[in-house]
Amino acid sequence: MIGNVLWRIEIMAMSVVALFALATSAAAATTPQLAAVRISGERRVSFDANWRFYKGESDGAEKPDFDDSNWKLLRLPHDWAIEGPFDETLNPSTGALPISGTGWYRKSFLLPQSAKGRVFTIVFDGAMANSTVWINGEELGGRPYGYSSFFFNLTPHLHFGSETNVLAVRLLPEPDSSRWYPGAGIYRNVWLDVTAPVHVAEWGTYVTTPQVTDEKATVSVKTEVRNQSDNEAKVEVRQTILDSSRKPVSKSSAGTLAVSADATRTIPVSLTVANPQRWDMDHPYLYTLVTEIFDGERVIDKYSTTFGIRTIAFDRDKGFLLNGKTRKLHGVCLHHDLGALGAAVNRRATERQLQIMKAAGVNAIRTSHNPPSPELLELSDRMGLVVMDESFDMWHIAKVPNGYSKYFDEWSERDLRDMVRRDRNHPSIILWSIGNEIPEQNSPDGWKEAKRLTDFFHEEDPTRPTTSAMNDWAAAIRNHFADNVDIKGFNYQPMHYEQIMHDHPDWVVYGSETESCVSSRGVYNLPIVAYEKPPSHQVSSYDTVAPFWAYCPDVEFTYQDKLPNVLGEFVWTGFDYIGEPTPYWDGNSGSTQGDWPARSSYFGFVDLAGFPKDNFYLYQSQWTTQPMVHILPHWNWEGREGQNIPVMAYSNAEEVELLVNGKSLGRKKRFSDEWEMPVGHNVSDTGKFVSKYRRIWQVPYQPGSLKAVAYSGGKQVAQQEIRTAGAPARIKVSADRSVIRADGDDLSYLTVRVEDKDGNLCPLADNLIHFNVTGAGEIAAVDNGNAATTEPFHADHRKVFSGMALLILRSHAEPGTIHVVATGDGLAPAQLDIRTKSEMVVKK
Ligand code: GAL
Repeated sequence: MIGNVLWRIEIMAMSVVALFALATSAAAATTPQLAAVRISGERRVSFDANWRFYKGESDGAEKPDFDDSNWKLLRLPHDWAIEGPFDETLNPSTGALPISGTGWYRKSFLLPQSAKGRVFTIVFDGAMANSTVWINGEELGGRPYGYSSFFFNLTPHLHFGSETNVLAVRLLPEPDSSRWYPGAGIYRNVWLDVTAPVHVAEWGTYVTTPQVTDEKATVSVKTEVRNQSDNEAKVEVRQTILDSSRKPVSKSSAGTLAVSADATRTIPVSLTVANPQRWDMDHPYLYTLVTEIFDGERVIDKYSTTFGIRTIAFDRDKGFLLNGKTRKLHGVCLHHDLGALGAAVNRRATERQLQIMKAAGVNAIRTSHNPPSPELLELSDRMGLVVMDESFDMWHIAKVPNGYSKYFDEWSERDLRDMVRRDRNHPSIILWSIGNEIPEQNSPDGWKEAKRLTDFFHEEDPTRPTTSAMNDWAAAIRNHFADNVDIKGFNYQPMHYEQIMHDHPDWVVYGSETESCVSSRGVYNLPIVAYEKPPSHQVSSYDTVAPFWAYCPDVEFTYQDKLPNVLGEFVWTGFDYIGEPTPYWDGNSGSTQGDWPARSSYFGFVDLAGFPKDNFYLYQSQWTTQPMVHILPHWNWEGREGQNIPVMAYSNAEEVELLVNGKSLGRKKRFSDEWEMPVGHNVSDTGKFVSKYRRIWQVPYQPGSLKAVAYSGGKQVAQQEIRTAGAPARIKVSADRSVIRADGDDLSYLTVRVEDKDGNLCPLADNLIHFNVTGAGEIAAVDNGNAATTEPFHADHRKVFSGMALLILRSHAEPGTIHVVATGDGLAPAQLDIRTKSEMVVKK
């Protein structure tokens, strides 16, 4: 059997999907170190702990008696590629990281004798990629698409009592399989679902709210009851709706019904909720449907579904309506990586991304270009963000040599139906996307495939429309591709919205992908241009630089303001992501000459570390009402004394006054400053475009203070001052959360700044900082947002970039204090304590 097993299997309770009481005694294990899975009463238990991992091919590793004792012991989710190193010979578009090769995972576990007769289903939220799964040497199947969730019934092959069970997973992610960093490994959570033979099927509830008024909501529920036994079962399915305080507000039962042996029966019921609370952006109220299966008076299965009561509509004149009210989509496209943590899913990292997005005024997320983690959707439900859930980046026609086109014929229907079944109860989802920039839009019969996919979506979920992100707008229209989605998304075409809408009076249109403005946080290059590719590998943050197909935010704002019935937009992108380092990457030629070490994107309005770039504030100035003002650039221009430096203010206030060393340069009213900005010829033949979204002054540089004061209604409402910084003198460390959960998973994000003796950020500093972390946690990763560095993400040191760096701490399971000391040559050190607590209430 297994040699030298040094660990104990632990199963943690999970709160979302519900429970059934089961025998809890641990079996007397003959392998003393290996305790049985403790079936604690939850239907779903985490299966992330104590996996063994090996990178490389390994003959016979699927066999139960294979000796994996020298494999690495780890906890999922796991992304092996993020460990690096960055490698110039690897594709920069996938992050110059080792995303391909063979990876093996094995997990050994015992099951108590008392659990015999239960049904065990293993659920993978996602494994990157081309997985094959074995239990006790029996091959169960696999999944090519790394973004799909999938599950297998383990039951017929399991051992109970003293004999060890071994789950083995082989992954074969390929090079050139993606246009961005996909990660590699079992990078999402794994669950073991333990049920009675008769139970609610996986993803087996479908909750819709066909009628909603202030007085009542009709909640329609379809439940798939699966009978995995050899006998017909007679069961009763009872539904209870709980409000957010877990108080029952509605109950229903369809009476006792027969479910044939080895069959699934769908049982529909309708419930009513009086005076329903709507799920909305500002009030993301959630109900829980508890589905219980009764065998006589005995509960044999219990399954929870979180849902919301809300209405959505897409109207040619009124736009997107949530609960009857027009909501302009202020959206962002997000890739799935979590910066320095790579693709490995982490709930807190995902929550932080969404919090930062919300601070910019974002209300919509596009999961470009694949189904997201379940955590992203759960958080969007809780945070009031609406979601465009996207399936594919390509169909038959390849964009990269080993992309999804290799699997599309065989797998697209399965992947798509599974995506909808997993996700369709999330109130946050408002649109299903059949794909991004699908090359078939250019083929005369590409529409047939568009129709096939749209039909699948309609069959699985008639309550939401389909869409596609079309970049070749004229071809997509000419070839009837656009006709075969419900809502028409266009990438980078604001100049054509008016014409498209004029030609198609009933179409509902929006910007499925917009801008692609590139910048490096804190870097300002002069003169201001529409396109640049400086040898420094750092692009100017004056927010004007964009590749030839793209443009900066002002252009989209202008057309969206002119055409209020366009639904809104999804900016490319909210966060920087790993891979696709345009402009230091030419996807067409594949040439990277001179571009190394650029290896992550410059598109985000927030950098890879999560620090806002100036562009973040440009969106905030248009998308939020809480008074704000932001000025740029920094004010350290030694050697340029007396020369004009363009100073910009982004603000939502009525007036902004700029003061230089206390002297006013005058006030500027909102939308009154018409700035002729440089743009690409895709936007205007003249290469110029008039923006009214920024307030600009030409300021002869003199060191000292640059201050913006914002006024609305005659009153001062916000201000920002930037001072010329002196020499780097000290380190400052601050945490986003100073108390975190002691669960081995929670994170605290520490911002590290190099400051002068007066506390001003040194905007040009690149000092190396060392971190000494002791106590109840460890370093999860480091970063600084520099898209062109080969410094590893897993290290105890990092240079600051434009004066700033990030240290991510992960808690240990034992509560205590994490003590951090940050040091750097010639700098006064900084220290900080983070407390970790086991009893912390998780804020839902
Ligand atoms: C789009 C594409 C995105 C990204 C972006 C960069 O055409 O859909 O995935 O590549 O360009 O501007």
